[in-house]
Parts: sequence; structure tokens; C-alpha cells
Amino acid sequence: MIHAEQQKALLEWWTTNHRDLPWRQTRDPWSIMVSELMLQQTQVSRVIPKYVYFLKKYPNPRECSQAPVSFIIEDWEGLGYNRRAINLHRAAHVIVEKHGGEVPDSLLQLLELAGIGPYTARAILCFAFEQDVGVVDVNTSRVIARITGEMLPPRPMQEKADSFVPSGQGWIWNQALMDLGSGVCR
Ligand code: ADE
Repeated sequence: MIHAEQQKALLEWWTTNHRDLPWRQTRDPWSIMVSELMLQQTQVSRVIPKYVYFLKKYPNPRECSQAPVSFIIEDWEGLGYNRRAINLHRAAHVIVEKHGGEVPDSLLQLLELAGIGPYTARAILCFAFEQDVGVVDVNTSRVIARITGEMLPPRPMQEKADSFVPSGQGWIWNQALMDLGSGVCR
């Protein structure tokens, strides 16, 4: 259970305390997908320059899919965990072949893509398509655990996270949980 006052307090905290990050200035689904894959195992400060560079070179799934995978791996240099680059390239192919070059906006279709699990799929739904879903990662689950008083297993945690999203404000809500969880609630 979350109270409207708690939701309001967090949203207000965020308006003055948020980090200005390049992927928060767009709703382009491909850009959000690239940012989320990069952020999976790499810290924000290292991701920022790679994110800008990568999207200049591969501004959409088609450009990415048409490049040899060796180029994508090379351009991933510095981020580590190259499997993510290979997955991104494979996912770009599927997006072009099955979805007309557009990143899908359904949970099930996103989960079918290489490298996209429950967290990343919902991050794309929320941060690109502004759907009201809970985005559960290590940082947001810490905040949710603080609100509920216990750390829950994945499925109930997801259900709690979904139920806490203030209607119509999923985008800002989840960004706020991320900043609170990574910067304050440790
Ligand atoms: N890590 C993953 N997604 C993020 C986002 N949208 N903002 C900050 N850190 C993140």
C-alpha cells in the first residue's frame, strides 16, 4: 500500500533533485532501448558518451541491423560485456524483419527480443511509450522494499511496483524511483 502523500512527496523531490541524463530527453524507443541495454551493467557516467556516439552512428534499428556485427562490437568498446552488443544487433534484425523497423510496444513482443528481460522490457514500455508499469531493478526495488517494509521475491515485487505507479505518471515516477534508489536510498 502506498499513500497519495508519499507519491506526491517523491514526485516533488524529483523535480528539484533529478539527474539530467540524455536518454531522459527523448521518447524515441530505439534510443531508450540502446540506453537501457548499455545501462544494464555499466555505470551512467561511462554510458553517456557511448550512448551519444552509438546513436549518431546507428540512429535506428535498420542502420544497426545492416552493419556487420563486428562493427557493433567495436562500437561497444569501453562498455564491456560484449554479449549485449551481439544481442542488440540480433534484436535489431528481428525488429526490422518482424516489426517493420519499429521497436514494439508490447511486453510479450519485447521479451522475445535478444537481451531483453522483464526489467528492460518494462523500462522501454515506461520510458519510451510512457506506459504505467512498474520498472523493477536493484535500485527501485530497494525503494519499494523501504515503502512496504520487506524485500519481496520478483513476482510480488513486480506486482507491488505496478500498483504503486500513480496513474498517468509512470515515466516520472519510475525515473524518480531510480534516482532515489541509486543516490539516496542505499
Ligand atoms: N539505469 C537504467 N535506466 C536508467 C534511467 N532511465 N535513468 C538512470 N539510470 C538508469
